Amino acid sequence: MSVQEIKLNDLKPEAFIEEQCRLISEQVGPSKAVNALSGGVDSSVTTILAYQALGPRLLTYFIDNGLMREGEPESVVYAMKRLGVPVVLLDARRDFFAALKGKTDPEEKRQAITDTFYKGVFGRLVKESGAPYLLQGTIYTDVEETVAGIKRQHNILAQLGIDTEKAFGYKVIEPLIQLRKPGVRAIGEALGMPVSMYNRPPFPGPALAARVIGEVTPERVALARKATLVVEEALSGLEAFQYMAILHEDRVTGMRNGKREYGFQIEIRCWDSQDAVTASPTKLPFDLLRKLADRMTSEVPGVVSVTYNVTAKPPSTIEAV
Ligand code: XMP
Repeated sequence: MSVQEIKLNDLKPEAFIEEQCRLISEQVGPSKAVNALSGGVDSSVTTILAYQALGPRLLTYFIDNGLMREGEPESVVYAMKRLGVPVVLLDARRDFFAALKGKTDPEEKRQAITDTFYKGVFGRLVKESGAPYLLQGTIYTDVEETVAGIKRQHNILAQLGIDTEKAFGYKVIEPLIQLRKPGVRAIGEALGMPVSMYNRPPFPGPALAARVIGEVTPERVALARKATLVVEEALSGLEAFQYMAILHEDRVTGMRNGKREYGFQIEIRCWDSQDAVTASPTKLPFDLLRKLADRMTSEVPGVVSVTYNVTAKPPSTIEAV
């Protein structure tokens, strides 16, 4: 792999910020750049960094792909506006659901999201805006796992031999590509971002599509979204690395009000990890898990089974898709 990692101990945040700002403004020159903000730690740090380098020549978009968490599009746009960075919210829900229709294989789902994102939505945006650069928050771990063939991270292109200029008509700029998550958080802190923004648990680019096993339909995403809300409310105080609810494809027999209910299964995962390369399940108190299961089965329609994953990564991965 040609990307050279910068280890946390060797990272000097102020110097890194200065250098990356210089590189971004040199590369973009008098032109403009389109920026893909998802609201996750990596893309938020990229946004602030690039805005520092380019100011109003940075056109930041939040793409509503229909796969985000409850209220997320609005709250991400609002949080950036408070920091003085204008963000345009773009509704692309139909594009993504059309591309995901009928797909059940995890890598095919990831590929569909990548294609919709880069060829469809951003291809159009770049053409319309005349900004031939796309900024995005790819980090070292994304490259590593994709190149190793473990999981195709949605944002990896050049490392898979894709020439974005030829394929989509724009160049991709990835200022954080040499860093892992703790390094990205250190840059966020040095940029003066709110802790709530740079210390957020990671959330994958493919969003809730990474949490729906089998076909990703608007209805199934809505169910995963409700389950996510319950898990996040219950576990956010724990400071675990990441936690999530996964909607399974298989249904199981349950019972409610004395009647059989052939219902949904939700798997909870909660991880302790430094950088997502390895992870172990958090030792959650049993009482907390029981309360979580009660909330899940009463607040998310049709759920009759809640399980907790106790497998480490490896051999598990953090996300189920
Ligand atoms: P896995 O599931 O590979 O996840 O153990 C490792 C970390 O990466 C996040 N993740 C992604 N992030 N695009 C992203 O931006 C992706 O396609 C993607 N897939 C997984 C995951 O949430 C975890 O923090």
